Amino acid sequence: MDNKAFSAALFKWAHRHWRELPWRGCGDPYAIWLSEIILQQTRISQGTKYWLRFMHAYPTVADLAAASEDEVLKLWQGLGYYSRARNLHAAARQIVERGAFPDTYQEIRRLKGVGDYTAAAIASMAFGLPHAAVDGNVYRILARIFAISTPIDSTQGKHEFQQLADALCPTDEAGYWNQAMMDFGALQCKPKGPACGSCPFADMCEARRLGQTASFPVKEGRVKQRDRYFTYYYITRAHEVLFHRRGTDDIWRSLWEPVLVEGDAASLDDAGRVVKHVLTHQTIYAQLIRIDATRLTDHEPLPYGLPPIEQLLKEYRWATPDEREGYAMPRLMDKLLADR
Ligand code: ADE
Repeated sequence: MDNKAFSAALFKWAHRHWRELPWRGCGDPYAIWLSEIILQQTRISQGTKYWLRFMHAYPTVADLAAASEDEVLKLWQGLGYYSRARNLHAAARQIVERGAFPDTYQEIRRLKGVGDYTAAAIASMAFGLPHAAVDGNVYRILARIFAISTPIDSTQGKHEFQQLADALCPTDEAGYWNQAMMDFGALQCKPKGPACGSCPFADMCEARRLGQTASFPVKEGRVKQRDRYFTYYYITRAHEVLFHRRGTDDIWRSLWEPVLVEGDAASLDDAGRVVKHVLTHQTIYAQLIRIDATRLTDHEPLPYGLPPIEQLLKEYRWATPDEREGYAMPRLMDKLLADR
């Protein structure tokens, strides 16, 4: 099958399965960029809600640039990976400063938070430029059809897959091709349980011929996950709760949280329900313990070996319900505060 035949088969499939998503075909680079940043680590159904929310709050890149970072983080709450929101906001200011949305691959690539994939996606969908956007879908589809065993997380693999995708992607229809591949990966060549029975590439798919669709794509081992153990103390006095803003040298930069004590695995044994929260390179095991300090003075020691409140007030402060409403918190906090 040559490159033309590949695209013809893909487009025929896409014609019947195309997903109508609100940013598709709108031609607005800002709207497309926003959708790509949101969808980097978020599923379409949830991502669409947030995209609508952002487009409503900030209809143009100038509106987004004019907002405060805290406001943007707050609107982002629930999506996780907050560096995406910070980069989005910083990039909006970059764009406003340069006067217009960048319209070449190289210049789009220079925006904060935009990597090779996102730059290619925006360049092709918003400006019709000939760049294949190689995401997890594309790795999986090509690895299977051509039985490519080069690890996709290696430098060599990235290069090889990008070259193949660029060769297959028609220069005059790159945006359509990229989105067709996304849909094909999501609906047909799924990570688990690909629908080979109805696949237009079934006859030429090498992985299928080998009976090994589950073995592709190949990955070179992941970085080992680090385990951490957090105990949160939700210390209340009337309607106020002790909160602080996290620093900038650890996970959840600048987000808000109640009193935190980090310990070893044994520190979680004493009380509370343990919640497991998986991040990119760390797994957090956390529990939340509520302490009503209404009747305690600032000098008395708190239970669980915590220092007196006067000590905690050096790092934490009493936050009213109104203030907490405006705080962006790690998603873990929703889990911990639920069902109690
Ligand atoms: N994931 C990232 N971008 C997408 C798009 N434009 N359509 C569908 N899924 C996507």
